[in-house]
Parts: sequence; structure tokens; C-alpha cells
Amino acid sequence: MKGLILSGGKGTRLRPLTYTGAKQLVPVANKPVLFYAIEDLVEAGITDVGVIVGDTADQVMAAVGDGSKFGCNVTYIPQDAPLGIAHAVKIAKPFVGNDRFVLFLGDNFIRDGIVPLVQHFQENDLNSLILLNRVKNPQDFGVAEMDGGKVVRLVEKPREPKSDLAVIGIYMFDHHVFEAVDSIKPSARGELEITETIQYLIDNGYRVGAHLLTGWWIDTGKMEDILEANRLILETLEQRVDGRVDAESRLIGKVVIEQGAEIVNSVVRGPAIIGERTRIVNSYVGPFSSIYMDCLISESEIEHSIVLENCCILDIRERIEDSLIGRNVQINRSPIKPKAYKLMLGDHSRIGIP
Ligand code: G1P
Repeated sequence: MKGLILSGGKGTRLRPLTYTGAKQLVPVANKPVLFYAIEDLVEAGITDVGVIVGDTADQVMAAVGDGSKFGCNVTYIPQDAPLGIAHAVKIAKPFVGNDRFVLFLGDNFIRDGIVPLVQHFQENDLNSLILLNRVKNPQDFGVAEMDGGKVVRLVEKPREPKSDLAVIGIYMFDHHVFEAVDSIKPSARGELEITETIQYLIDNGYRVGAHLLTGWWIDTGKMEDILEANRLILETLEQRVDGRVDAESRLIGKVVIEQGAEIVNSVVRGPAIIGERTRIVNSYVGPFSSIYMDCLISESEIEHSIVLENCCILDIRERIEDSLIGRNVQINRSPIKPKAYKLMLGDHSRIGIP
């Protein structure tokens, strides 16, 4: 079996981060979202992995490399324009060939991995297997309508959903999917839709199985979802201290301090992770925080937040919370008069001031 991961797309709901970076590389517990998908495939014994890349190809390729660090071979497949998930499947045909494969949207995240699901697909003589999860906002996803245990209809982001069963962005197919993607037409949003592809398989008598997931699933398309994924993953980490913690500092609960990191006269209350070479000085880092590498947090307080690499947060005594802070950001107190907020923010930035 092969794996196909989608790592293109514009990530509009994660601007401004996605102006300069791929949404699939935003870290969750200090590891890019995309890496969890690759690890899930490898865990299921899939070592031939195609990665569809778009505008952010260079970054994705630099981060993932040839796949050897994950124990797989990665083949990059460029998609010239974001023409839909089914279009990505179509252009992957030379890579997939006649093999059965898992299609994994690189921003989707499930707790329990895909090992039993791949097994279910293989053992039940299915042409496709889709995964479903009950959600409060089905109108934001592909939605499945069931009759007994069978899927009868899939609708992409319906205004009036007929069920609360969202179709998760992890799908399994055999080669008949190529017949389907060649047969469907672009939707109103100009994309070849994966839901219509699966509907074609259903309508043409192919065996499409559906599995209702019980563990959590997150589509990390929005900041709130990334913070939630971060919370859930941090809770699963094992305590580990590879960096330096001075005698004046306290680590409380599950905390990971990576190599080269330094905690000076500070409190880190877990679950939290402090990345390589990051320094926390005279500060408080609270639960559900992931501070990535090469940051400096000094004389400040932060909690329930994700900070990307190379940031400086200096002298911010009011606690920073519920925040997602991009790379190379500086937040500090300005001594220059007049006393005022002085901001330099990218387009689509969001600031909440009490
Ligand atoms: C895509 C699919 C949708 C699916 C969702 C899962 O939506 O089109 O059917 O439910 O992924 O994350 P998109 O993220 O492209 O809006």
C-alpha cells in the first residue's frame, strides 16, 4: 500500500502565518502537523509516500527531506494550482499506479493513528474506506448520509446538513478512484471535490465502507483548532529534561525541556514543551504552551499558547494567553514616549487587548 499526503493549499484561515509558511508546517507540541501524518503512515507499514506540494513546496521539502528520518521514501508531486483534493489524486496516478493507497490531508490529525483502519480496509475487500466523526459544525465539512451501516450520499459543506457526520480528511482507495476523478466535473468553487469522487464510487456500485471514529479528530485549519490539537498532544507527552534548569526554577507537572534549552529563575507548569536552545528567564510558562526553538522569553508570562521559532518576548507582565505567535516575532516594552501601543503587524494579524 502507498500513502499520498496533501501539503498544498493556501491556508487562508491561518493568515498571516500562511503568508510566509505552509499551514502543514505549523508545529503542534513543537512538531509540524504534517509530520504526524507521515508517522501515522509509517506506523501502518506504509513506506512509499507521495507528498503533493504547491506554492510552499520548498519549505515542505526542506522540512521532510527524502523521508529517511521517518523511515520512508518520499516522492514529491507538484500541483500547479489548488484545483481540489480529487485533482491532487488525479495527478498522483503515475506515483500510485495500481496500488491501494491512503489519502491523508496534511492538516488532519487523529488521536489513535490509522493502523486498525488500514487493516479494516485491507481485510474487507473494499474499494474505498472513509472515516466519519460526529461534529457540531457539519456545514464546514463533507457530510455523510447513512442508511443503516451504509453511506448513501456525501455532500460537500451543505448549508443544511442532513447529519452530523463529517468526513475526515483521511481516505483509503484502490485504483478505481482514478476512473472516478476522471469522470467528475469541477464544483462551484472550481475544485474537483473528493466527496463527489466518493459519491461516484457509491453510485457506480463500488464498495465504500465507512468507519465512525471514536477518538478525537482535528482539522487544524484555524488557530483555535491548532491550540486544541496542541493541548491534546501535550497531554500525551512524557516528562523529559534534556536542557538546563537552574536551582531557582521549578518545573511542575509534565514538562519537556529540549536539549540546549535553559530555564533560569522561572516556573514552567506543564503540560508544556520548551524547544531547543530556547531560554526562559525570570518568567512563567503555563499549561498547554509550546515554545519552539531559539526563542527568548524574559520577565514575561505566557500560557495556553504556541510560539514559533526565533521569537523574543521581553518584559510583558500581563499574561499572554490563547495565542499563536509566528516566527521571528518580537514583543517587548517600548521606553520611547509617548506611552502607547506601537505595532508592526502583517496583514490579517489579530490582536486582543484587554
Ligand atoms: C476537505 C474536504 C471535506 C473534508 C475536510 C476534512 O475540506 O473537502 O470533505 O470534510 O477536508 O478536513 P477543505 O479543508 O478542503 O475545505
